[in-house]
Amino acid sequence: MKTMEGKKVLITGGLGFIGSNLASKCVQLGAKVTIFDCLDPRSGGNLFNITKISDSIQVSYHNILDFDQVSQVVPEKDIIFSCASSTSHAFSMREPWIDSDVNSKGVINLLEAVRRFNPKAKFIHLGTSTQLGKLSYQPADEKHPEFPTDIYSANKSVSEKYTLIYSKAFNIRSTVIRLSNVFGPKASIHSSEFTFNNYFIGLALQGKDITVYGEGRQTRNVLYVDDAVSAMVLAAQSEESTGEVFFAVGDEHFSVSEIAEATVKYLGKGKVIYTDWPIGKKATDIGDAILSNKKIKKTLGWSPKINLESGLVQTKEYYENCLKEYLR
Ligand SMILES: NC(=O)c1ccc[n+]([C@@H]2O[C@H](COP(=O)([O-])OP(=O)(O)OC[C@H]3O[C@@H](n4cnc5c(N)ncnc54)[C@H](O)[C@@H]3O)[C@@H](O)[C@H]2O)c1
Repeated sequence: MKTMEGKKVLITGGLGFIGSNLASKCVQLGAKVTIFDCLDPRSGGNLFNITKISDSIQVSYHNILDFDQVSQVVPEKDIIFSCASSTSHAFSMREPWIDSDVNSKGVINLLEAVRRFNPKAKFIHLGTSTQLGKLSYQPADEKHPEFPTDIYSANKSVSEKYTLIYSKAFNIRSTVIRLSNVFGPKASIHSSEFTFNNYFIGLALQGKDITVYGEGRQTRNVLYVDDAVSAMVLAAQSEESTGEVFFAVGDEHFSVSEIAEATVKYLGKGKVIYTDWPIGKKATDIGDAILSNKKIKKTLGWSPKINLESGLVQTKEYYENCLKEYLR
């Protein structure tokens, strides 16, 4: 990663898990960071996430659905990271309107503000591997068709297409980084509504049981948050990334049961228990999910640096002194 000295960076959703880790990295690289976030109580936003950098950044507490407010923060930024999102798959099935508003219309608001007021900015949007749904070939690459099985993933698919349309039609320098099961410090670990592996971490840290459905054999990709952040920064610093979609995923794949067992082992707490699949849950499960990171490695020279074991050890160290901030 090159220096970001003197760069003006906007991070929507910067109070959340990935956005706040990204904000810290951008500050460390010398950027002037503005966070735009409404601290939506249904998402993983947490003010504690920015305690260490609060003196070095600006925060604009507004909703991405407010186009006027979005238009205030977009001008003059060199890089815009689009991380604001309604991030619960389960919530999107209960409140599809809210999910559609934030994950679809919210991204249009941001893109439209970029087109009107700052068309030279570099724009990095985050997608998700669950846009693909059940995989028809593995390892799945960026050309794999998309058949999402929940509303959140469908809206993420739509906003990815908006991002690419703005790149082609209006020459916006935009890129999509698709992530999968990112884990680490500052995540929402208190609720099963969010990423399953962070929830496992929360349970283990409290010494509770981690429930795995069936035998937990379905494979998943996991990525430590610092590696997700480095993929975003490298994409922002590259011109070859413009108009492209990349999977930023780990080199290794693990079964859900292996992830649960590793969580207990490296956090030194909790216990894994196995139960039958609850009725209805299996219908939206996508089965095995083996993904390819060849394109991002080749184009951006990115590769994940932190494996599951060291990621879990670093995660434990982070939460040791501030667990209570993440359990409310
Ligand atoms: N965590 C993962 O494993 C993962 C995997 C794939 C993709 N992603 C994507 O990464 C991005 C960030 O995810 P995260 O895990 O950090 O989520 P998060 O829930 O921790 O953070 C989302 C942030 O967006 C903010 N937000 C929500 N609605 C908003 C609105 N209407 N206006 C302004 N701000 C709003 C929230 O307050 C929160 O701070 C999302 O786009 C998500 O789809 C995450």
